[in-house]
Amino acid sequence: MLTLTSNNPEETKAIGETLAKSVRTGHSIGLTGELGAGKTQFVKGIARGLEIDEDEVVSPSFGLINEYEGDKKLYHVDLYRLESNEEIETLGLADYIWGDGICVIEWADRLGKDLSLLDLHIHIEILPDNRRRFTFSGIDVKFLEKEVKTLLKERLWH
Ligand SMILES: Nc1ncnc2c1ncn2[C@@H]1O[C@H](COP(=O)(O)OP(=O)(O)O)[C@@H](O)[C@H]1O
Ligand SMILES: [Mg+2]
Repeated sequence: MLTLTSNNPEETKAIGETLAKSVRTGHSIGLTGELGAGKTQFVKGIARGLEIDEDEVVSPSFGLINEYEGDKKLYHVDLYRLESNEEIETLGLADYIWGDGICVIEWADRLGKDLSLLDLHIHIEILPDNRRRFTFSGIDVKFLEKEVKTLLKERLWH
């Protein structure tokens, strides 16, 4: 289990960007955390890492899944407006979770026990000082800590 703290949305995106560079096709990532925690910001960072225009990444307004094409395909699922468990079945999520791209699911706790089927679970908490705490469980992402720091330092210097 790894925890990282993010001071601002840019750092949150840098974590997503770094993760995207190393995640493999077919990997699935579940995001949990209250409204405004930073789940969508994080997905924008993943998009950036896959050379997808992050401005295009918005919560799906129609349906629950958006699909983007970059270095790899990105399936962005948002279960916020999920109405019933039956709806999960009709979504055909398995095709995305084990599909030909990277699948990121906001409000993954709405999958219930199926959350454990995902390769990585990231919980985002809003801290009292408004920073965000990321807790990672699942596949080993210890490399993130060092690589995110390096990335942020490089951006400060150039
Ligand atoms: N460290 C941070 N990481 C991510 N977002 C942050 C952070 N600090 C403040 N914010 C703000 O919190 C909001 C997060 O929104 P969003 O990503 O849509 O949340 P969610 O998808 O979890 O509901 C944005 O308005 C963003 O500017
Ligand atoms: Mg969101």
